[in-house]
Amino acid sequence: MLILSLETSCDETSVAVVRGGREVLSNVIASQIAKHTETGGVVPEVAAREHITAMIPVLRQALAEAGVDWSAVDAIAVTKEPGLIGSLVVGRVTAAALAFALDKPLIEVNHIHGHMYSTWLLGEDLTEPLPEYPILVLTVSGGHNELVLLSGPGQFTLLAETVDDAAGEAFDKVARLLGLGYPGGPIIEKRAKLGNAKAVPFPIGLPRENNFSFSGLKTAVLYYLQENEDKMADEAFINDTAASFQSAATEALVLKLMRALETHKVKEVHLTGGVSANSFLRQRIEMELAKLDEAPLFRHPKRMSYCTDNAAMIAAAATFMRG
Ligand code: KG4
Ligand code: ZN
Repeated sequence: MLILSLETSCDETSVAVVRGGREVLSNVIASQIAKHTETGGVVPEVAAREHITAMIPVLRQALAEAGVDWSAVDAIAVTKEPGLIGSLVVGRVTAAALAFALDKPLIEVNHIHGHMYSTWLLGEDLTEPLPEYPILVLTVSGGHNELVLLSGPGQFTLLAETVDDAAGEAFDKVARLLGLGYPGGPIIEKRAKLGNAKAVPFPIGLPRENNFSFSGLKTAVLYYLQENEDKMADEAFINDTAASFQSAATEALVLKLMRALETHKVKEVHLTGGVSANSFLRQRIEMELAKLDEAPLFRHPKRMSYCTDNAAMIAAAATFMRG
């Protein structure tokens, strides 16, 4: 089964061609980052217009890179929701038109389910075994922060979610406070490698509850920076603050993930979403899992391009959600 999938929920226009839900023949991602750096975030109206311009060239490139033509496509998959409405409409109308013209089925996929199945996509090793249920999935992105028990194809139980900001959103907002630009996650990770994570004891949100909270941490960083306004030009100060923030955000995620494992016996733990690209977070989860007697298998997306928004994950979810 060859799926042509489209993802346009936020600021990436992406089209992929995926075989059997796992083998990625192409995954073209046209990022609008350059358009949104000036504003320090995504302006919905601008994002929708950019999708319109990018869609046809990206579609053509995805087919060309995969080396297939329209006749080889068995189904069209597209992100249904959640996301910016103007951006979603561009993808959905394009996908519906393609499905109609080619007389192929249209499979609509929830964006978060797409992230959850991004770990099923293959990298170099095409023989890697399929994941096995039950799976505990932590999805951390700019818009979402959810801990879910995946007990079978498309069988989700929400165990915890954020009561305010998502982790990625906190990375983006703190990066802006530190004057580091957008998107914040990769820049904070880079600067944190040069800093001391123990420099500032920032708070861990809701330590006794299962849900996540990151707005208190963001406010703590804001107050800390206001108190130390005179040090903003000091590189070492910025690096230490970035490292301390990253550490507090990571510990909150790790704490709740490990707590969920006490009550839910699973075969695998998956980390997905834009923030899953963060190597500090991956290492901390690996370290904690290694302490368990029967440690579940840990997977994160095989390629960095499968962490942030991409169309290949939409094809994976379209395939495996239904068993
Ligand atoms: O999944 P995604 O592309 O979009 C949403 O569905 O929200 O995630 C984007 C988020 C941004 O907030 C970005 O700062 C964050 O993922 N991110 C990272 C890293 N790379 C991207 N956060 C921490 N460390 C990273 N290396
Ligand atoms: Zn996303």
